[in-house]
Amino acid sequence: MAPFRNLPDATVLTDPDALEPYRHDESHVLGVLPLAVVRPRGPAALKELVRLAKAEGFALVPRGAGTGKAGGCLPTGQRAVVVDFSAWPGELRVSPQDLSLSAPASALLRDVKAAAAAQGFFYPPDPNSWESCALGGTLATNAGGPNACKYGMTRHWVLSVEALLEDGEIHTFGISSVKANAGPALGQLLIGSEGIFGFIVGATLRLTPMPREYTTLLLPVKRWQDLLDLPGRLCGAGYLPSAFEFFDPAVLSELRAHGPEEARRLPGEAMAILEFDERGCTSEPFLEGLLDLLGPVAEGLEVASDERQRQGIWAVRRMTSAFLKERHPKKVSEDIVVPRSRLGEFFAGLERLGIPSVSYGHLGDGNLHVNLLAAGETEPALLERQLMDLFRLSMSLGGTLSGEHGIGLAKRDAFLALSDPGQIQTLRAIKQALDPQGIFNPGKVI
Ligand code: MLT
Ligand code: ZN
Repeated sequence: MAPFRNLPDATVLTDPDALEPYRHDESHVLGVLPLAVVRPRGPAALKELVRLAKAEGFALVPRGAGTGKAGGCLPTGQRAVVVDFSAWPGELRVSPQDLSLSAPASALLRDVKAAAAAQGFFYPPDPNSWESCALGGTLATNAGGPNACKYGMTRHWVLSVEALLEDGEIHTFGISSVKANAGPALGQLLIGSEGIFGFIVGATLRLTPMPREYTTLLLPVKRWQDLLDLPGRLCGAGYLPSAFEFFDPAVLSELRAHGPEEARRLPGEAMAILEFDERGCTSEPFLEGLLDLLGPVAEGLEVASDERQRQGIWAVRRMTSAFLKERHPKKVSEDIVVPRSRLGEFFAGLERLGIPSVSYGHLGDGNLHVNLLAAGETEPALLERQLMDLFRLSMSLGGTLSGEHGIGLAKRDAFLALSDPGQIQTLRAIKQALDPQGIFNPGKVI
């Protein structure tokens, strides 16, 4: 394609068959066919791409490994070029003295976590796609995961970011230390911005010593509402799980009936997985204290006896999203949040509104994957109403419409309709200041 003929240091794809996969990510939305896909291998390619985008009036859409859940990396509009960062160069470097790790956007999250672990350190962010997603995508979307319950989200683990801005140059924001207070943290503005202000090409991440012990518990319950006050009760009593996941009765029975071997023996009407990773969590006093606190709810509690059993429990949890998608290919999966103190009210509200849904996910931090399994067979206007009701309910309880997947394309209309207009105006003013020609991922988020 003519404008890309002289692009330095990059691979360019223009064959429609090669472009087709770039219309998809792991959300339920579909992008348009881009003009081209460019895989830059250095700053010169990005500089020229920015110049061309401004001169020729096309949009640049960033893409990591394409595992996003909100359509943030999908091309929209008539003229979009996907910038696929999979070939972006750079090494993983751990600095034990600084408790940090630097990596390019192209690094796979699993390799980042493994590089940290090889030196006895832990990088906690663990979205469900952690074995296949790219670090850059997790930074652009501020990815979460089960460990966010104790460790927070991606943004809490970033010391500095390197990002392409609209001058065509790569700038660094932040330093390799947790203490840095020279003015507002512009790097934090880029994290979770889904590429609308600029593209993150690398980062220095914060590490923490690797936990040395885990207690992993399966907690089946007879009345599933009994789970709902547990996250708040545990935290209130000083127990902070590193993960607290749950399956409601409908998800649990689908898993039991049609899931893999490990899922067939899962007990209970509903079930939670709790994990603790602090020093002493495998000791008897810790477990006794926990049992006391749980009271009668702990009746069927099972403790993973070894690492193999622990991994088996997690394997079932990790495959839940893909399993439901396989059985209900047109389902819509949301990721609303409510404060954990309002979980009971949330599920009562969901029932009152009659939204036909099943739920599982990160109960410990109130981030729930509410799945509308029949979305494909639901009349579009009705589906829209059900989703808006769901978002309004979460917001009315002090929550929000996305806890970890982001807004992207999938939730943009709802985000614009339901947010404080002052927030949207502020975001648009920042966008205008940082990207006056609107080349970076237009049509997403705002
Ligand atoms: C998960 O936690 O399994 C995913 O974030 C959920 C999803 O795919 O919707
Ligand atoms: Zn999740």
